[in-house]
Amino acid sequence: MERPAAPAVPQDPAETRLTITSPEQMRELGRHLAKLLRAGDLVMLSGELGAGKTTLTRGLGEGLGVRGAVTSPTFVIARVHPSLGDGPPLVHVDAYRLGGGLDEMEDLDLDVSLSDSVIVVEWGEGKVEELTEDRLQVVIHRAVGDTTDEVRHVTLAGLGERWAEAGLETLTA
Ligand SMILES: Nc1ncnc2c1ncn2[C@@H]1O[C@H](COP(=O)(O)OP(=O)(O)OP(=O)(O)O)[C@@H](O)[C@H]1O
Ligand SMILES: [Mg+2]
Repeated sequence: MERPAAPAVPQDPAETRLTITSPEQMRELGRHLAKLLRAGDLVMLSGELGAGKTTLTRGLGEGLGVRGAVTSPTFVIARVHPSLGDGPPLVHVDAYRLGGGLDEMEDLDLDVSLSDSVIVVEWGEGKVEELTEDRLQVVIHRAVGDTTDEVRHVTLAGLGERWAEAGLETLTA
């Protein structure tokens, strides 16, 4: 009998958990995470309204050294921030109103190749996973019911070979 093929994605994703206590610290996490990113990476951000997904992305933009401040892309589905240096552009996607998923994403006519970019997607669950085999899944939790609390629990799970030794464990709050 043949041995079953090894799973394409490791069963145990590289996972890092951090506790963040302010918006500034969330941005700083973004700046640090940016140093681990490269062209072709897909980062999926999960978390309820106001969890801090865009705040984290702002830090990613700063760390990547891209043009334009990252803001909530509420009225556009995706915004491209070109690099100010020779790094990859940041493509910031708000998939909230993206119905069809992948096809629509490719139809956005972003004028930039996704494989040459770092793609950060808010609200992308069930919509953009097919873009790449590997992805970094970032989940941000806030304490429910306490609207003044600035504490956030962040879990970073790297799925696929790309993230196996990417250094996620070096990130600190
Ligand atoms: N620790 C924290 N990290 C990030 N944001 C925080 C934190 N504490 C408080 N905040 C505040 O929470 C809000 C987060 O807003 P942000 O736009 O980043 O959330 P979001 O997850 O992108 O929301 P949406 O789902 O609407 O896009 C900001 O007003 C920010 O100042
Ligand atoms: Mg947002």
